[in-house]
Amino acid sequence: MSSYFIGIDIGTSSAKAVVIDPAGEVLHTTAPTYSFRTPKPLWAECDPEDWWKATRTALREITGKFGAETIAGIGLTGQMHGLVLLDEAGGVLRPCIMWNDQRTGAQCASITKKVGAEKVLELTGNPVLPGFTAPKIVWVQENEPEVWAKAKKILLPKDYIRFRLSGSFATEVSDASGMALLDVGRRDWSPEMLEACDIPREMVARVTESTEASASVDAQAATATGLKEGTPIIAGGGDQAAGAVGCGIVRSGIVSATLGTSGVVFAHADQYQPDPRGRLHTFCAAVPGKWHFMGVQLSSAGSLQWFHDKIAGGKSFDDLNQLAEKVPAGAEGLLFLPYLSGERTPHPDPYARGVFFGLTLVHGLGHMARAVMEGVTYGLRDALEIMESLGLQPAEIVASGGGANSVLWRQMLADNFKTRIVTVNATEGAAYGAAVLASVGAGAHSDVPTACEAMLRRTGSCEPGTDTVAYDRLYPVFRDLYPALRDSFTKVGKAVEAMGEGA
Ligand code: XUL
Repeated sequence: MSSYFIGIDIGTSSAKAVVIDPAGEVLHTTAPTYSFRTPKPLWAECDPEDWWKATRTALREITGKFGAETIAGIGLTGQMHGLVLLDEAGGVLRPCIMWNDQRTGAQCASITKKVGAEKVLELTGNPVLPGFTAPKIVWVQENEPEVWAKAKKILLPKDYIRFRLSGSFATEVSDASGMALLDVGRRDWSPEMLEACDIPREMVARVTESTEASASVDAQAATATGLKEGTPIIAGGGDQAAGAVGCGIVRSGIVSATLGTSGVVFAHADQYQPDPRGRLHTFCAAVPGKWHFMGVQLSSAGSLQWFHDKIAGGKSFDDLNQLAEKVPAGAEGLLFLPYLSGERTPHPDPYARGVFFGLTLVHGLGHMARAVMEGVTYGLRDALEIMESLGLQPAEIVASGGGANSVLWRQMLADNFKTRIVTVNATEGAAYGAAVLASVGAGAHSDVPTACEAMLRRTGSCEPGTDTVAYDRLYPVFRDLYPALRDSFTKVGKAVEAMGEGA
């Protein structure tokens, strides 16, 4: 009797798998980990085999506990934009170039020059940005021609796992939107963009809507995972699109703010209306026939993780929260720019760097922890203010991601966004959203909004408070810092590159 759904999120540092029942109750969560490497400044790479190993471990644990016959469908999600190149035999040709890799500034410029900036925006709904997949492909063509000569297929991270589970070569519209190769308005590949990047159409996967059962578990994967051969694999979505489903951002007017490794302000859209200035991403939603806007911050709760791992001398996250709570809003004038791995929204700049600004003898660890949280919040406020300038007026904002577990951080969001912040019962993020998509694809719910209504509940809310005043004083200072430092960031980045090359 099959009635449970699995969602698998091929994340930056773990393969998180959740099991839910048709009412949306989480029955089990597991997240075997792996790591990624930064072999050079601006680079980020990892081994797709590590994702597969972690996925097998997670699925074995689940099938061992629940039995293969209980699983009615699997939904896939994962880090977006990563480039996985396969040879003729389906072997991985080189490490995945990840979403947070920033090496492709030159390739973005050359694609944009070839196609024309306006035309790129018209075709794909977005500018070509260093994190996106197309410039990574062009980088491989230019820098590793021997690898490119052997390349036969191009896959995104979660779609590589679909390939290992089923042998099928498929993707879906929400993740494919982040490749700079999809005609986001038409929800199909753009022949012009493929041609401009010298990519034969047969190298990219079949593209479906997110709720389609686009593959099923094959005999080999059944042996490797304990799943039943033939278990449907639902297309799923990029981690932001699936995470939005997991928070119920499936109708116009609802907005979310995610404090994960990366941070995102995300709004559902019924119509395709890209930001004319390309500041926000406009991607296909995981809700069939719909779209979404998002602003992406590359180091969000990832900034606090960095502070915890490298600076805070053994203090736990709870300790840091408590120290930050004791410091007044505005951290007595200490500001932090969270551009630890460059930035995307609103400053698409691979050379941008993290900065503590305004240090005095007054400041200690608690001030720095608070400044990190506030700087991340100001960065998300940048994205929300662009959304508001495009006419979006959220009545409330759903907070999610690891950082949203902090009451202090949720209050900062409310004070800066001047909007009620709510939380929902689904705390498992994108993996949960992928499981919801699986429940729709396998027929347990008629469509995505109906599934969300059946499964999601509100668990808490907080209103803007008096700290709004302090943040309103300091946010304009935060906003002025990037333009003031931009040239210095580029000079430092280029100097470090030159030193790395022995110059
Ligand atoms: C979205 C993005 C990140 C990654 C990693 O555009 O780059 O959310 O998908 O989580």
